[in-house]
Amino acid sequence: TAPDRSILKRAAAVRAVGEVQDGMVIGLGTGSTSAFAIEELSRRVAAGLKIVGVPTSERTRLMAQQQGVPLLKPGDRPRLDLTIDGADQVERGSLDLVKGAGGALLGEKIVASASDRMIVIVDDSKIVERLGKATPLPVEIVSFGWRYTVDRLTALGLRPHLRLVDGKPFVSDAGNHIADCHIDEIADAAGLEAELSSLVGVVETGLFLGLASTVIVGRPDGIEVMQR
Ligand code: A5P
Repeated sequence: TAPDRSILKRAAAVRAVGEVQDGMVIGLGTGSTSAFAIEELSRRVAAGLKIVGVPTSERTRLMAQQQGVPLLKPGDRPRLDLTIDGADQVERGSLDLVKGAGGALLGEKIVASASDRMIVIVDDSKIVERLGKATPLPVEIVSFGWRYTVDRLTALGLRPHLRLVDGKPFVSDAGNHIADCHIDEIADAAGLEAELSSLVGVVETGLFLGLASTVIVGRPDGIEVMQR
C-alpha cells in the first residue's frame, strides 16, 4: 500500500523544528509540509519557546497568526537565523530545488535568501536525480503584458503554461502571474536561472540554487538528513 505522505511530511517537519532554539528569527515556509512545521512550532511556543516567525506568504501569515506564533513582517530584521520550507523537487547531491507549486516562490526565495540557514522538509517522493520533469518549473512574471513574456519563454523552448485558477490567471501575493514551464531535464540549472532572470517581464524563478543547507526527508523507513 502507498505510504501516507502526510505522516512522512509531518515527521520531517517535526525533526526540522527540533533545530529551533530560543531567540531565533525563523522563516516560515508555505505549503502542506510547512503547515506541519508551523503546527509543531506553535506547540513549542505554547510550551515556552521564545522565537519570532517571518511568513513567506499571506496564507502562512494567517495560519501562523491563528496558531499563536509571534510574527515579524518580512524586512523587520536584517537577517533570519533559519528558514524551514518545503519543496517540489530536491536534486540529490546538489540540494538544488524547484519550488513554487503553491505560488509563493517570490516570498519564499526572498526570505530564504535572507536566512543564515535553510532547512528543506520533504517526503521521499520529492527527491530526484536531476531537476526537471517531475513537476513544472514555476516562473513568476509581471501581469503587465504577460503574453509577451510567455512568448519569450516559448521561444526558449520552455513550454510555458500560464497558471489559471477557475479559468482566470493566478495572482500571486505580489500581484504577479505564474508561467509553469514544462521542461524535460534541466541540464544546467545555473545557466537557465541566469537566462530567465535576464528576460524582461520575469520577476523570479522557482529554481532555488545553493540555498538549502540541509534537506530532511521523511521516508517510510525513517528520516534521512542530507547536508550540503
Ligand atoms: C509553495 O510555493 C511551494 O514552493 C511549496 O514549498 C512546495 O510546493 C511544497 O509544498 P508541499 O509541502 O505542499 O508539497
